[in-house]
Amino acid sequence: MDEPAAQYLCRSDELAERGRGVVFDVMLWRQPARGFALRIDGRAVAYINRCAHVPTELDWNPGDFLDAERRTIICAVHGAQYSPATGHCLGGPCGRARLMSIDVTESDGQVSWYPSRDIAPLSFDDEAPSPSGENTTP
Ligand code: FES
Repeated sequence: MDEPAAQYLCRSDELAERGRGVVFDVMLWRQPARGFALRIDGRAVAYINRCAHVPTELDWNPGDFLDAERRTIICAVHGAQYSPATGHCLGGPCGRARLMSIDVTESDGQVSWYPSRDIAPLSFDDEAPSPSGENTTP
C-alpha cells in the first residue's frame, strides 16, 4: 500500500513551546472537522479537535487549548483534561478515553501531518467546517 502523502500543516516557528495551537481543516470519517497542533517539550503533536466526552471542539478561544499553567489540554465545555504529549485523559469526564492523535513530522522548518484510514485532507469538493463548527450545507 502507498504511504500517505504528507500534508502541509504550518511553519515550525508558528508552534511556540506550550503556546497557542495551530488549527487546520481535515475530513474525519468523511465529515468536515478540525485538527490542532501544539509544541510540547520541543515536539510537534496534533490531535482532532474533538473532546472524548461529548464530540465538541475543545478550545475555549480559537487556538487556546491549554490550561492556565500550560500543563494540560483542557476542554472548554466541562473541563476534561488531557495530556498534551499523549492525548490521554488525565481527569474529568473523559474517563479512560483519549484524544484522537494525528501523525506529524517536522523538517526544514515545516510541520506536516499524515492522513490515516479515518482522517483525510480536504479536497476541493469538500466544505470546510464553519467557524462555529456547524455544517452550513443547506
Ligand atoms: S465536552 Fe469536553 S468535557 Fe464535556
